[in-house]
Amino acid sequence: MQIKKITCIGAGYVGGPTMSVIAQKNPNVQVTVVDLNEARIAAWNDADLSKLPVYEPGLDGVVGEARGRNLFFSTDVDKAIHEADMIFISVNTPTKTYGKGKGQAADLKFIELCARQIAAVAKSDKIVVEKSTLPVRTAEALKSILDNTGNGVNFHILSNPEFLAEGTAVTDLHNPDRVLIGGEDADAIEALVQVYEAWVPRDRILTTNLWSSELSKLVANAFLAQRVSSINSISELCEVTGANVDEVSRAIGYDSRIGAKFLKASVGFGGSCFQKDILNLVYIARSYNLKAVADYWEQVIILNDHQKVRFAENIIKTLYNTVNGKNIAFLGWAFKKDTNDTRESAAIYVADHLLDEEANVIVYDPKVPAEQIYRDLDYLGTRSPEENRRLVKVVNDPYEALAGVHAVAILTEWEEFKSYDWEKIKETMKKPSFVFDGRKLLNRSKIEGLGYVYYAIGE
Ligand code: UDX
Ligand code: ADP
Repeated sequence: MQIKKITCIGAGYVGGPTMSVIAQKNPNVQVTVVDLNEARIAAWNDADLSKLPVYEPGLDGVVGEARGRNLFFSTDVDKAIHEADMIFISVNTPTKTYGKGKGQAADLKFIELCARQIAAVAKSDKIVVEKSTLPVRTAEALKSILDNTGNGVNFHILSNPEFLAEGTAVTDLHNPDRVLIGGEDADAIEALVQVYEAWVPRDRILTTNLWSSELSKLVANAFLAQRVSSINSISELCEVTGANVDEVSRAIGYDSRIGAKFLKASVGFGGSCFQKDILNLVYIARSYNLKAVADYWEQVIILNDHQKVRFAENIIKTLYNTVNGKNIAFLGWAFKKDTNDTRESAAIYVADHLLDEEANVIVYDPKVPAEQIYRDLDYLGTRSPEENRRLVKVVNDPYEALAGVHAVAILTEWEEFKSYDWEKIKETMKKPSFVFDGRKLLNRSKIEGLGYVYYAIGE
Protein backbone atom coordinates (compact mmCIF):
# COMPACT_ATOMS: atom_id res chain seq x y z
CA MET A 1 0.00 0.00 0.00
CA GLN A 2 1.69 3.17 -1.20
CA ILE A 3 0.43 6.43 0.26
CA LYS A 4 -0.07 9.22 -2.29
CA LYS A 5 -2.22 11.69 -0.42
CA ILE A 6 -2.16 12.55 3.26
CA THR A 7 -4.60 14.84 5.03
CA CYS A 8 -4.09 16.15 8.54
CA ILE A 9 -7.06 17.51 10.47
CA GLY A 10 -5.80 20.20 12.85
CA ALA A 11 -3.16 22.79 11.92
CA GLY A 12 -1.89 23.38 15.46
CA TYR A 13 1.40 22.98 17.27
CA VAL A 14 1.54 19.29 16.45
CA GLY A 15 -0.16 18.98 13.06
CA GLY A 16 1.52 21.97 11.38
CA PRO A 17 5.20 21.17 12.02
CA THR A 18 4.77 17.38 11.72
CA MET A 19 3.06 17.58 8.35
CA SER A 20 5.53 20.18 7.11
CA VAL A 21 8.41 17.77 7.76
CA ILE A 22 6.54 14.76 6.32
CA ALA A 23 5.93 16.81 3.15
CA GLN A 24 9.51 18.06 3.04
CA LYS A 25 10.88 14.52 3.22
CA ASN A 26 8.27 12.91 0.92
CA PRO A 27 8.11 15.19 -2.12
CA ASN A 28 5.96 12.63 -3.96
CA VAL A 29 3.25 12.56 -1.33
CA GLN A 30 0.66 15.35 -1.37
CA VAL A 31 0.10 16.60 2.17
CA THR A 32 -2.89 18.80 2.99
CA VAL A 33 -3.37 20.27 6.45
CA VAL A 34 -6.90 21.44 7.21
CA ASP A 35 -8.39 23.39 10.06
CA LEU A 36 -11.72 25.02 10.85
CA ASN A 37 -9.89 28.10 12.05
CA GLU A 38 -9.64 30.35 8.98
CA ALA A 39 -7.22 32.81 10.53
CA ARG A 40 -4.85 29.98 11.39
CA ILE A 41 -4.90 28.57 7.87
CA ALA A 42 -4.39 32.07 6.43
CA ALA A 43 -1.34 32.46 8.66
CA TRP A 44 0.07 29.11 7.46
CA ASN A 45 -0.39 30.39 3.92
CA ASP A 46 1.13 33.83 4.59
CA ALA A 47 3.79 34.76 2.04
CA ASP A 48 5.77 36.23 4.93
CA LEU A 49 7.18 33.11 6.63
CA SER A 50 7.81 35.02 9.84
CA LYS A 51 4.00 35.12 10.29
CA LEU A 52 3.48 31.35 10.63
CA PRO A 53 1.07 30.64 13.51
CA VAL A 54 3.61 28.43 15.28
CA TYR A 55 7.01 29.80 16.13
CA GLU A 56 9.65 27.05 15.89
CA PRO A 57 13.30 27.52 14.96
CA GLY A 58 13.82 26.20 11.41
CA LEU A 59 10.12 25.78 10.63
CA ASP A 60 10.03 28.68 8.18
CA GLY A 61 12.70 26.94 6.08
CA VAL A 62 10.79 23.66 5.99
CA VAL A 63 7.48 25.32 5.10
CA GLY A 64 9.22 27.51 2.53
CA GLU A 65 10.64 24.42 0.84
CA ALA A 66 7.47 22.30 0.68
CA ARG A 67 4.52 24.71 0.63
CA GLY A 68 2.90 24.96 -2.78
CA ARG A 69 4.96 21.97 -3.98
CA ASN A 70 3.33 19.13 -2.05
CA LEU A 71 2.28 20.87 1.17
CA PHE A 72 -1.05 22.70 1.29
CA PHE A 73 -3.04 24.41 4.03
CA SER A 74 -6.79 24.66 3.58
CA THR A 75 -10.13 25.09 5.32
CA ASP A 76 -11.89 22.69 2.97
CA VAL A 77 -12.00 19.76 5.38
CA ASP A 78 -14.45 17.60 3.41
CA LYS A 79 -12.47 17.77 0.17
CA ALA A 80 -9.24 16.89 1.93
CA ILE A 81 -10.86 13.93 3.71
CA HIS A 82 -12.41 12.71 0.48
CA GLU A 83 -9.09 12.73 -1.41
CA ALA A 84 -6.78 11.24 1.21
CA ASP A 85 -5.45 7.68 1.54
CA MET A 86 -4.26 8.46 5.03
CA ILE A 87 -5.82 10.91 7.52
CA PHE A 88 -4.01 12.16 10.60
CA ILE A 89 -6.18 13.43 13.41
CA SER A 90 -4.29 16.17 15.16
CA VAL A 91 -6.93 18.18 16.94
CA ASN A 92 -6.80 19.48 20.48
CA THR A 93 -7.76 17.25 23.39
CA PRO A 94 -8.04 19.66 26.32
CA THR A 95 -8.77 18.55 29.86
CA LYS A 96 -12.54 18.41 30.41
CA THR A 97 -13.94 21.51 32.08
CA TYR A 98 -17.36 20.02 32.78
CA GLY A 99 -19.16 16.84 33.81
CA LYS A 100 -17.60 13.47 34.61
CA GLY A 101 -13.82 13.59 34.74
CA LYS A 102 -13.88 17.41 34.94
CA GLY A 103 -10.36 18.74 35.49
CA GLN A 104 -8.78 15.36 34.71
CA ALA A 105 -10.11 13.40 31.76
CA ALA A 106 -9.34 14.44 28.20
CA ASP A 107 -12.23 16.01 26.34
CA LEU A 108 -12.66 13.89 23.27
CA LYS A 109 -15.45 15.84 21.62
CA PHE A 110 -13.15 17.26 18.91
CA ILE A 111 -11.83 13.78 18.11
CA GLU A 112 -15.33 12.38 17.89
CA LEU A 113 -16.45 15.21 15.61
CA CYS A 114 -13.52 14.43 13.30
CA ALA A 115 -14.38 10.74 13.23
CA ARG A 116 -18.00 11.52 12.39
CA GLN A 117 -16.95 13.88 9.65
CA ILE A 118 -14.57 11.29 8.17
CA ALA A 119 -17.33 8.68 8.36
CA ALA A 120 -19.75 10.99 6.60
CA VAL A 121 -17.44 12.05 3.79
CA ALA A 122 -15.22 9.03 3.00
CA LYS A 123 -16.04 7.08 -0.15
CA SER A 124 -12.82 5.00 -0.33
CA ASP A 125 -10.74 3.00 2.18
CA LYS A 126 -8.62 5.08 4.55
CA ILE A 127 -5.95 4.69 7.15
CA VAL A 128 -6.82 6.93 10.11
CA VAL A 129 -3.89 7.90 12.30
CA GLU A 130 -4.30 9.21 15.85
CA LYS A 131 -1.68 11.92 16.24
CA SER A 132 -3.21 13.81 19.14
CA THR A 133 -2.36 12.48 22.59
CA LEU A 134 -5.29 10.39 23.66
CA PRO A 135 -6.41 8.25 26.53
CA VAL A 136 -5.63 4.59 26.09
CA ARG A 137 -8.35 2.75 24.12
CA THR A 138 -9.59 5.83 22.25
CA ALA A 139 -8.99 3.94 19.01
CA GLU A 140 -11.82 1.64 20.05
CA ALA A 141 -14.28 4.53 20.05
CA LEU A 142 -12.93 5.82 16.75
CA LYS A 143 -13.29 2.41 15.20
CA SER A 144 -16.82 2.05 16.41
CA ILE A 145 -17.85 5.39 14.88
CA LEU A 146 -16.04 4.73 11.60
CA ASP A 147 -17.16 1.12 11.20
CA ASN A 148 -20.81 1.95 11.62
CA THR A 149 -21.13 4.23 8.63
CA GLY A 150 -22.72 1.49 6.56
CA ASN A 151 -21.21 2.73 3.29
CA GLY A 152 -18.80 -0.19 2.86
CA VAL A 153 -15.63 1.83 3.38
CA ASN A 154 -12.81 0.08 5.31
CA PHE A 155 -10.92 2.01 7.94
CA HIS A 156 -7.68 0.97 9.59
CA ILE A 157 -6.73 2.83 12.74
CA LEU A 158 -3.16 3.50 13.77
CA SER A 159 -1.74 5.31 16.77
CA ASN A 160 1.33 7.42 16.03
CA PRO A 161 1.95 9.67 19.03
CA GLU A 162 4.09 12.74 18.75
CA PHE A 163 7.11 13.18 20.99
CA LEU A 164 8.34 16.53 19.71
CA ALA A 165 9.11 19.19 22.25
CA GLU A 166 8.30 22.82 21.59
CA GLY A 167 11.22 24.99 20.63
CA THR A 168 13.04 21.99 19.17
CA ALA A 169 10.15 20.60 17.11
CA VAL A 170 11.96 20.69 13.79
CA THR A 171 15.15 19.01 15.01
CA ASP A 172 13.05 16.48 16.97
CA LEU A 173 11.12 15.70 13.79
CA HIS A 174 14.21 15.53 11.60
CA ASN A 175 16.10 13.36 14.03
CA PRO A 176 13.65 11.54 16.33
CA ASP A 177 14.83 9.19 19.11
CA ARG A 178 12.07 6.92 17.88
CA VAL A 179 8.86 6.92 15.89
CA LEU A 180 6.12 4.84 17.47
CA ILE A 181 3.38 3.22 15.42
CA GLY A 182 0.67 1.13 17.03
CA GLY A 183 -1.90 -0.81 15.08
CA GLU A 184 -3.50 -4.10 14.22
CA ASP A 185 -3.26 -4.28 10.46
CA ALA A 186 0.25 -5.09 9.19
CA ASP A 187 -0.28 -3.43 5.78
CA ALA A 188 -1.56 -0.21 7.30
CA ILE A 189 1.38 -0.13 9.71
CA GLU A 190 3.80 -0.73 6.84
CA ALA A 191 2.25 2.11 4.82
CA LEU A 192 2.97 4.56 7.64
CA VAL A 193 6.42 3.07 8.24
CA GLN A 194 7.25 3.89 4.62
CA VAL A 195 6.29 7.54 5.09
CA TYR A 196 8.75 7.84 7.99
CA GLU A 197 11.40 5.69 6.36
CA ALA A 198 11.93 8.53 3.90
CA TRP A 199 14.25 9.97 6.55
CA VAL A 200 14.14 7.92 9.78
CA PRO A 201 16.34 4.79 10.06
CA ARG A 202 14.18 1.65 10.18
CA ASP A 203 15.56 0.55 13.55
CA ARG A 204 14.19 3.70 15.13
CA ILE A 205 10.64 3.03 13.96
CA LEU A 206 8.97 0.93 16.65
CA THR A 207 5.73 -0.90 16.07
CA THR A 208 3.43 -2.08 18.87
CA ASN A 209 -0.19 -2.91 19.42
CA LEU A 210 -2.62 0.01 19.51
CA TRP A 211 -3.06 0.21 23.27
CA SER A 212 0.68 0.10 24.01
CA SER A 213 1.26 2.96 21.62
CA GLU A 214 -1.52 5.11 23.08
CA LEU A 215 -0.37 4.42 26.62
CA SER A 216 3.35 4.93 25.86
CA LYS A 217 2.79 8.56 24.98
CA LEU A 218 1.15 9.29 28.34
CA VAL A 219 3.81 7.33 30.17
CA ALA A 220 6.72 9.06 28.41
CA ASN A 221 5.39 12.46 29.44
CA ALA A 222 4.61 11.24 32.95
CA PHE A 223 8.18 9.96 33.39
CA LEU A 224 9.69 13.21 32.09
CA ALA A 225 7.49 15.33 34.33
CA GLN A 226 8.23 13.04 37.25
CA ARG A 227 11.94 13.74 36.87
CA VAL A 228 11.31 17.48 37.03
CA SER A 229 9.10 17.11 40.11
CA SER A 230 11.65 14.80 41.70
CA ILE A 231 14.48 17.29 41.32
CA ASN A 232 12.20 20.17 42.33
CA SER A 233 11.33 18.33 45.53
CA ILE A 234 15.06 18.05 46.22
CA SER A 235 15.51 21.77 45.48
CA GLU A 236 13.47 22.60 48.56
CA LEU A 237 15.56 20.25 50.64
CA CYS A 238 18.73 21.87 49.26
CA GLU A 239 17.54 25.30 50.31
CA VAL A 240 17.24 24.27 53.94
CA THR A 241 20.32 22.06 54.16
CA GLY A 242 22.91 24.11 52.28
CA ALA A 243 23.25 21.59 49.46
CA ASN A 244 23.11 22.97 45.92
CA VAL A 245 20.57 21.38 43.62
CA ASP A 246 22.71 21.83 40.48
CA GLU A 247 25.53 19.98 42.15
CA VAL A 248 23.17 17.21 43.19
CA SER A 249 21.76 16.98 39.64
CA ARG A 250 25.22 16.75 38.21
CA ALA A 251 26.31 14.16 40.74
CA ILE A 252 23.36 11.87 40.10
CA GLY A 253 23.19 12.58 36.36
CA TYR A 254 26.64 11.10 35.85
CA ASP A 255 25.16 7.74 36.78
CA SER A 256 24.38 6.35 33.34
CA ARG A 257 21.35 4.56 34.76
CA ILE A 258 19.87 7.91 35.79
CA GLY A 259 21.18 10.10 32.96
CA ALA A 260 21.75 13.85 32.96
CA LYS A 261 18.70 15.17 31.09
CA PHE A 262 15.55 16.61 32.65
CA LEU A 263 17.18 17.21 36.02
CA LYS A 264 17.11 20.99 35.95
CA ALA A 265 15.32 22.40 38.97
CA SER A 266 12.89 25.18 38.08
CA VAL A 267 9.89 27.18 39.22
CA GLY A 268 7.81 24.28 37.90
CA PHE A 269 7.06 22.60 34.62
CA GLY A 270 4.44 23.94 32.24
CA GLY A 271 3.38 23.27 28.68
CA SER A 272 0.33 21.78 27.11
CA CYS A 273 1.28 18.16 27.71
CA PHE A 274 2.77 17.25 31.05
CA GLN A 275 -0.05 18.19 33.38
CA LYS A 276 -2.78 17.15 30.98
CA ASP A 277 -1.26 13.77 30.28
CA ILE A 278 -0.60 12.97 33.91
CA LEU A 279 -4.12 13.98 34.88
CA ASN A 280 -5.30 11.69 32.15
CA LEU A 281 -3.17 8.84 33.41
CA VAL A 282 -4.47 9.42 36.92
CA TYR A 283 -8.03 9.46 35.65
CA ILE A 284 -7.59 6.24 33.72
CA ALA A 285 -5.97 4.51 36.73
CA ARG A 286 -8.84 5.69 38.96
CA SER A 287 -11.42 4.51 36.48
CA TYR A 288 -9.95 1.00 36.78
CA ASN A 289 -9.93 1.36 40.59
CA LEU A 290 -6.12 1.45 40.77
CA LYS A 291 -5.98 3.88 43.66
CA ALA A 292 -2.30 3.43 44.56
CA VAL A 293 -1.25 3.93 40.94
CA ALA A 294 -3.41 7.04 40.58
CA ASP A 295 -2.16 8.57 43.85
CA TYR A 296 1.44 7.87 42.90
CA TRP A 297 1.25 9.84 39.62
CA GLU A 298 -0.96 12.57 41.04
CA GLN A 299 1.86 13.44 43.40
CA VAL A 300 3.92 14.67 40.42
CA ILE A 301 1.31 17.40 39.83
CA ILE A 302 0.89 18.19 43.51
CA LEU A 303 4.62 18.77 43.85
CA ASN A 304 4.67 20.94 40.74
CA ASP A 305 1.88 23.14 42.11
CA HIS A 306 3.73 23.34 45.40
CA GLN A 307 6.89 24.54 43.63
CA LYS A 308 5.07 27.45 41.96
CA VAL A 309 3.37 28.52 45.18
CA ARG A 310 6.61 28.18 47.10
CA PHE A 311 8.39 30.46 44.63
CA ALA A 312 5.70 33.14 44.95
CA GLU A 313 5.59 32.86 48.73
CA ASN A 314 9.32 33.25 48.96
CA ILE A 315 9.06 36.53 47.06
CA ILE A 316 6.39 37.77 49.45
CA LYS A 317 8.29 36.64 52.54
CA THR A 318 11.56 38.15 51.34
CA LEU A 319 9.91 41.48 50.49
CA TYR A 320 9.15 41.88 54.21
CA ASN A 321 5.90 39.91 54.08
CA THR A 322 4.05 42.33 51.87
CA VAL A 323 4.01 42.99 48.15
CA ASN A 324 0.94 45.21 48.29
CA GLY A 325 1.53 48.08 45.85
CA LYS A 326 5.08 46.92 45.13
CA ASN A 327 6.34 46.61 41.56
CA ILE A 328 7.67 43.21 40.56
CA ALA A 329 9.12 42.67 37.10
CA PHE A 330 8.60 39.32 35.41
CA LEU A 331 11.21 38.31 32.88
CA GLY A 332 9.54 35.67 30.77
CA TRP A 333 5.99 34.38 30.49
CA ALA A 334 6.35 31.44 28.07
CA PHE A 335 6.48 27.97 29.68
CA LYS A 336 10.06 27.57 28.44
CA LYS A 337 12.49 29.42 26.17
CA ASP A 338 12.29 29.56 22.37
CA THR A 339 8.51 29.30 22.23
CA ASN A 340 5.60 31.73 22.35
CA ASP A 341 3.44 29.08 23.99
CA THR A 342 2.18 29.96 27.46
CA ARG A 343 -0.09 27.02 28.18
CA GLU A 344 0.20 26.01 31.86
CA SER A 345 3.24 28.26 32.21
CA ALA A 346 4.45 28.60 35.79
CA ALA A 347 4.50 32.40 35.28
CA ILE A 348 0.69 32.49 35.17
CA TYR A 349 0.32 30.88 38.58
CA VAL A 350 3.15 32.80 40.21
CA ALA A 351 1.60 36.04 38.95
CA ASP A 352 -1.84 35.01 40.17
CA HIS A 353 -0.47 34.41 43.65
CA LEU A 354 1.30 37.77 43.77
CA LEU A 355 -1.75 39.58 42.38
CA ASP A 356 -3.83 38.09 45.19
CA GLU A 357 -1.50 40.04 47.45
CA GLU A 358 -2.10 43.19 45.37
CA ALA A 359 1.36 43.35 43.82
CA ASN A 360 1.88 45.26 40.55
CA VAL A 361 3.43 42.96 37.99
CA ILE A 362 5.29 44.27 34.94
CA VAL A 363 5.88 41.58 32.35
CA TYR A 364 8.41 41.36 29.55
CA ASP A 365 8.66 38.29 27.32
CA PRO A 366 10.47 38.43 23.98
CA LYS A 367 7.83 36.33 22.19
CA VAL A 368 4.54 36.53 24.08
CA PRO A 369 2.19 39.39 23.20
CA ALA A 370 0.25 41.36 25.82
CA GLU A 371 -3.15 40.01 24.72
CA GLN A 372 -1.99 36.46 25.45
CA ILE A 373 -0.79 37.37 28.93
CA TYR A 374 -4.11 39.00 29.80
CA ARG A 375 -5.99 36.08 28.26
CA ASP A 376 -4.05 33.64 30.46
CA LEU A 377 -4.86 35.62 33.59
CA ASP A 378 -8.49 36.20 32.65
CA TYR A 379 -8.90 32.49 31.95
CA LEU A 380 -8.10 31.70 35.59
CA GLY A 381 -11.14 33.69 36.60
CA THR A 382 -9.48 34.74 39.87
CA ARG A 383 -10.30 38.42 39.34
CA SER A 384 -12.03 40.60 36.79
CA PRO A 385 -10.36 41.45 33.46
CA GLU A 386 -10.33 45.12 34.55
CA GLU A 387 -8.50 44.17 37.73
CA ASN A 388 -5.93 42.12 35.79
CA ARG A 389 -5.27 45.10 33.54
CA ARG A 390 -5.00 47.44 36.51
CA LEU A 391 -2.41 45.27 38.28
CA VAL A 392 -0.45 43.89 35.33
CA LYS A 393 1.45 45.93 32.77
CA VAL A 394 3.05 44.32 29.73
CA VAL A 395 5.97 46.09 28.07
CA ASN A 396 8.06 45.52 24.95
CA ASP A 397 11.34 46.71 26.39
CA PRO A 398 13.01 44.78 29.22
CA TYR A 399 14.68 47.87 30.63
CA GLU A 400 11.30 49.54 30.89
CA ALA A 401 10.00 46.49 32.78
CA LEU A 402 12.88 46.65 35.24
CA ALA A 403 13.06 50.38 35.86
CA GLY A 404 12.22 51.29 39.43
CA VAL A 405 10.94 47.87 40.53
CA HIS A 406 11.36 46.33 43.97
CA ALA A 407 12.20 42.89 42.62
CA VAL A 408 12.78 40.89 39.45
CA ALA A 409 11.49 37.36 39.00
CA ILE A 410 12.89 35.22 36.18
CA LEU A 411 10.20 32.82 34.99
CA THR A 412 11.51 31.65 31.60
CA GLU A 413 15.08 30.75 30.72
CA TRP A 414 15.44 33.06 27.67
CA GLU A 415 19.15 33.39 26.83
CA GLU A 416 18.89 37.14 26.31
CA PHE A 417 18.20 37.75 30.00
CA LYS A 418 21.79 36.78 30.77
CA SER A 419 23.28 39.48 28.60
CA TYR A 420 21.32 42.42 30.00
CA ASP A 421 23.26 45.27 31.54
CA TRP A 422 22.56 44.22 35.12
CA GLU A 423 24.78 46.98 36.45
CA LYS A 424 22.67 49.65 34.78
CA ILE A 425 19.45 47.91 35.85
CA LYS A 426 20.61 47.92 39.46
CA GLU A 427 20.91 51.72 39.41
CA THR A 428 17.23 52.12 38.51
CA MET A 429 15.84 49.51 40.94
CA LYS A 430 14.62 50.06 44.49
CA LYS A 431 17.16 49.16 47.18
CA PRO A 432 17.72 46.51 48.34
CA SER A 433 17.34 45.08 44.83
CA PHE A 434 16.03 41.52 44.78
CA VAL A 435 16.38 38.96 42.02
CA PHE A 436 14.33 35.74 42.25
CA ASP A 437 15.70 33.37 39.68
CA GLY A 438 13.19 30.61 38.94
CA ARG A 439 15.42 29.19 36.21
CA LYS A 440 18.88 29.42 37.77
CA LEU A 441 19.86 31.47 34.76
CA LEU A 442 22.10 34.20 36.13
CA ASN A 443 25.56 33.89 37.59
CA ARG A 444 25.29 34.22 41.35
CA SER A 445 28.74 35.66 42.02
CA LYS A 446 28.39 38.22 39.23
CA ILE A 447 24.92 39.31 40.34
CA GLU A 448 25.82 39.43 44.01
CA GLY A 449 28.99 41.30 43.09
CA LEU A 450 26.79 44.03 41.65
CA GLY A 451 25.02 44.32 44.98
CA TYR A 452 21.80 42.42 44.29
CA VAL A 453 20.15 40.15 46.81
CA TYR A 454 19.95 36.99 44.76
CA TYR A 455 17.65 34.05 45.37
CA ALA A 456 17.78 30.99 43.10
CA ILE A 457 15.77 27.77 43.31
CA GLY A 458 17.58 25.02 45.18
CA GLU A 459 20.48 27.02 46.61
C1 UDX B 1 7.01 17.68 26.28
C2 UDX B 1 7.82 16.42 25.95
O1 UDX B 1 9.22 16.70 26.15
C3 UDX B 1 7.56 16.00 24.52
O2 UDX B 1 8.22 14.79 24.23
C4 UDX B 1 6.05 15.81 24.33
O3 UDX B 1 5.75 15.46 22.98
C5 UDX B 1 5.31 17.08 24.70
O4 UDX B 1 5.64 17.46 26.04
P1 UDX B 1 7.27 20.27 25.85
O5 UDX B 1 6.04 20.44 26.66
O6 UDX B 1 7.38 21.00 24.57
O7 UDX B 1 7.51 18.73 25.50
O8 UDX B 1 8.50 20.77 26.73
P2 UDX B 1 9.67 20.13 27.58
O9 UDX B 1 10.95 20.56 27.01
O10 UDX B 1 9.49 18.70 27.82
O11 UDX B 1 9.52 20.94 28.94
C6 UDX B 1 8.34 20.86 29.73
C7 UDX B 1 8.44 21.73 30.96
O12 UDX B 1 9.37 21.19 31.88
C8 UDX B 1 8.93 23.16 30.67
O13 UDX B 1 8.19 24.08 31.45
C9 UDX B 1 10.38 23.13 31.09
O14 UDX B 1 10.86 24.39 31.47
C10 UDX B 1 10.31 22.17 32.28
N1 UDX B 1 11.60 21.50 32.56
C11 UDX B 1 12.13 20.63 31.66
C12 UDX B 1 12.25 21.73 33.76
O15 UDX B 1 11.78 22.52 34.60
N2 UDX B 1 13.43 21.08 34.02
C13 UDX B 1 13.98 20.20 33.13
O16 UDX B 1 15.05 19.64 33.44
C14 UDX B 1 13.31 19.97 31.91
P1 ADP C 1 -2.04 20.65 19.41
O1 ADP C 1 -1.06 21.26 20.38
O2 ADP C 1 -2.52 19.29 19.84
O3 ADP C 1 -1.58 20.68 17.99
P2 ADP C 1 -3.72 22.97 18.92
O4 ADP C 1 -4.81 23.51 19.79
O5 ADP C 1 -2.49 23.78 18.70
O6 ADP C 1 -3.37 21.53 19.51
O7 ADP C 1 -4.31 22.63 17.47
C1 ADP C 1 -5.45 21.88 17.23
C2 ADP C 1 -6.17 22.45 16.01
O8 ADP C 1 -7.23 21.56 15.62
C3 ADP C 1 -6.81 23.81 16.21
O9 ADP C 1 -6.27 24.74 15.28
C4 ADP C 1 -8.32 23.57 15.94
O10 ADP C 1 -8.93 24.65 15.26
C5 ADP C 1 -8.29 22.33 15.06
N1 ADP C 1 -9.53 21.56 15.07
C6 ADP C 1 -10.23 21.10 16.14
N2 ADP C 1 -11.31 20.38 15.73
C7 ADP C 1 -11.30 20.38 14.37
C8 ADP C 1 -12.14 19.81 13.34
N3 ADP C 1 -13.22 19.07 13.64
N4 ADP C 1 -11.81 20.03 12.04
C9 ADP C 1 -10.73 20.78 11.72
N5 ADP C 1 -9.90 21.33 12.65
C10 ADP C 1 -10.17 21.15 13.94
